Parts: sequence; C-alpha cells; structure tokens
Amino acid sequence: MANDQPPRPSRRGFLKAGGAAVAAGASLGAGLAPQAALAKAPAHLADPQLAVEPFYGLHQAGIVTPQQSHTYVAALDLTTDKRDEVIALLRTWTEAAARLTQGGTAAALPTGDAGDSKPAPDSGDVLGLGPNGLTITFGFGPGLFTKDGKDRYGLAARRPAALVDLPRFNGDQLIPEKTGGDIYIQACANDQQVAFHAVRQLTRLAYGTAAMRWGQSGFLSGPRGQTPRNLMGFKDGTNNPSTAKPELMKEFVWAGATADAPWMEGGTYTVVRRIRITIEHWDNMELGFQEQVFGRHKYSGAPIGRQNEFDAVDLKEEDKDGNPVIPENSHVRLSNQASNDGAQILRRSYSYNDGTNFYIERWPPWRQETEYDAGLIFVAHQSDPRKGFIPINDRLAKFDMMNQFTTHVGSAIFAVPPGAKPGSYIGAGLFET
Ligand code: HEM
Repeated sequence: MANDQPPRPSRRGFLKAGGAAVAAGASLGAGLAPQAALAKAPAHLADPQLAVEPFYGLHQAGIVTPQQSHTYVAALDLTTDKRDEVIALLRTWTEAAARLTQGGTAAALPTGDAGDSKPAPDSGDVLGLGPNGLTITFGFGPGLFTKDGKDRYGLAARRPAALVDLPRFNGDQLIPEKTGGDIYIQACANDQQVAFHAVRQLTRLAYGTAAMRWGQSGFLSGPRGQTPRNLMGFKDGTNNPSTAKPELMKEFVWAGATADAPWMEGGTYTVVRRIRITIEHWDNMELGFQEQVFGRHKYSGAPIGRQNEFDAVDLKEEDKDGNPVIPENSHVRLSNQASNDGAQILRRSYSYNDGTNFYIERWPPWRQETEYDAGLIFVAHQSDPRKGFIPINDRLAKFDMMNQFTTHVGSAIFAVPPGAKPGSYIGAGLFET
C-alpha cells in the first residue's frame, strides 16, 4: 500500500528551467530549451511560467508528471478513411507538440510584422507566456481500431484486449456528446490559456482528418507541495501510488508488452469521467457526515480516527462498539486496494466549473433554481483497466455514499502509447511494427 509517501509537490510550481527557457518562450518559433541552464538557475526565476517538461522520452509526459495547475482535455473523431492520413496527422502532431511544450509556436512564424496573405500558423494568443510546464499526451480510443463494425485503417487485429469498451455502471447518465472519441489529447500546464492554446492548435492542424468531439477545461489549486483539495473540500490524491517509486508505476501504471499489443509497452490506459457534483447540496451537509462519506477527516485529510494525512488507512479498525471506524460505504474503504484485490490506479484529476444551469420543474414541487455545472474531471491511468478502474468503479457505483452527490455524465477510455524518440512519432509502434 502506498500510503507511506511523504508530502510531495503536487504540481509543477517550481523551477524547471532558467533564463534559457525564457528565451525559448519569447523567441517565437523557438526550438528546445538548453538543459544546461537548469542547474544554474537563479532563485528569482522560480516561476511556474518558466517550467519546461521534456516531450520526447520512454513514456509520454503528463502521466507521472507532477500535476500542473490547469488542463484542457479533448477527444476527436477521425473523419478520414485513409490510414496514411492518420499517420501524417500523428507525425504533424508529434512535431507540433514537441515545439509547443518547449515554449514554441505550433509551427514557425513568418519573420517581421508584415501582413501575410495566408492565415498565421499559430493563433498567437500565448506569445510570450512561457512554456508553463506544458505537457501534451495523446491516446487512442476504440474507434481507431474499429468503428461501426468497420476496420477503417487495418488496425482491428492490433486492438489491445485491455482497451475494453467500458460497461454501463450503476447510476451512469452519460451524455453522448461528452462521451467516447477516437483520439485523446490531454494538455496540462500552469496556465489555463497555454493548455487551451495547445489543444486549439492541434485540432486546427487536424482539419479535414479529425474533428473535435468534446473538450473540457479543468483546474487544480493548492498550496505548493501539498495535496490539492477538490470542490468538495477534501484533499484529493493522498493515497495515490507514489510516482517516485518506479516499481509501483511498473506494476500499476505502465502497460507491459502483451502478446496482443506489444506496441503498448511503456504506455498506459487512461479513463476519463466527467463527474458532476451537486455542490449546493453537499455544502449543506454536516461536517461529520461529510467525513463519514469519504472515510477521512476534512481538514487534516487523515483517515478517520487518525491525526495525519499520510497515516495508514486501516480498514480493520473498529470502535468500542465493534463498528468499523472507516464506514462500510465510505469512498475510501470501497476504493482502497485492500477492497479491490490489491488493485491501484493513478488518479490525476482536475476540478471543473462550467458556469450555471437554469433548472425549472413545472410540475409539483414547481421549483426553479440555478445550479452550478461543476465537478471533477476524473482522470485515471493504469496498466489494465480490467483490473483497475472497472472493478473499483463497479463497487463505487453500487455502494459509495458519495453517489448521492455525484453523477457521471461523460466517459471515455484510451490506449495511451509510449513516448516517441526524436525523429519518430507518437503511435509509430502501432502503425509500423
Ligand atoms: C467526484 C468524484 C470523486 C471525488 C470527489 C473523489 C474524491 C476522493 C477523495 C477525497 C479521496 C481520499 C483522498 C485520496 O486518497 O486521494 C479519494 C480516494 C480515492 N478515490 Fe476518489 N473521488 C471521486 C471519484 C472516484 C472514482 C470514480 C474512482 C475510481 C473508480 C475513485 C477512486 C479512488 C481511489 C482508488 C482512492 C484511494 C483510496 C485509498 O486507497 O485510500 N474516486 N477520492
């Protein structure tokens, strides 16, 4: 169990790059920030805007990367039936993502300020803002492999068994326009506009090949180095498997080279759920009841009956009357690995706040009110969703006390391939080996 991890930076709020990164961000179509400057960076440059995450590598960034403060996640549907066009898009995206994450524009800008007769290759709305720790992560939905029974790109036989169609869970109220998708793009950054900009440039590069299906922004606030709180006021992410322990990541997060999908080795499977929370209702609940719902204390984040956030969750503990200290139907008991055959998932969720909805009921009790459309963009990475999200969520959907306050309205699953080497592209292993 990974509850022994010390408090760790929960987002990239600290310096990853020095003055060289400022230069990279400022010079428009700039290339990569030299790593040499990292060690010597003066303290006054400790600015989240200047953080830089590598794009190329064994794994894609944005999975075990400490959480940045903002996200924009999106799913696209492929509109082409040509395999070569899908490959060309992935190549273009890989190059653009490598530039964007290092503080560059999606493609090189023309020099000077003179007007051009062509549209600019980048919207220009984040010029000068810095890389902001941007990561861009791509994933493949079931529709890349087969759609409406058709093997559009000759990939049907390469679909990993772990990329299952998610079952319907108790209480699901999924909205089709916020569910599914052939391709996933997850942009995370320390600035909302930088995250949105990245997805906006990538979807623009896809015109004619893929079209946006849904998009969703999210945010995460918390004092630096501490577990952030979700909109229900509880610390969220405490009992994640520690990303500082490679053996845990290997076991629970990274996919291995399975016989059906050797190309997924070093990748992961990502489940995204848009979970709406009736925060108005929740805010009127007694504090003690809220703590029973989660099985943790609200302010400290400690398991009920304990003092400190990272104290062990002991599901066997009983009070003087023989009742479990952590309630039977509490969120933590039901989702803890001891209740799920040892399964763990890496949660990397963000809150969302999409304004308000006007709600009217013309039949008794004749009420009309305005309610928030707010909740959690739940994002979970795992080596196999058949052992991770699916059994855990099946139990939660049936028994979790929290269900009185939450409704799953969007859902998607993606195979997130491993990272790319410079010169190659994301997903090359699927198409070329
Ligand atoms: C609005 C929806 C949700 C909220 C507000 C929420 C909130 C929380 C909170 C506050 C904790 C305790 C602190 C921590 O260890 O991170 C927690 C733990 C956890 N949650 Fe959720 N959660 C939500 C949905 C889900 C879903 C859909 C799943 C998975 C299917 C899930 C899986 C877990 C797991 C595995 C833990 C760790 C339990 C442990 O080992 O102690 N959560 N969640």
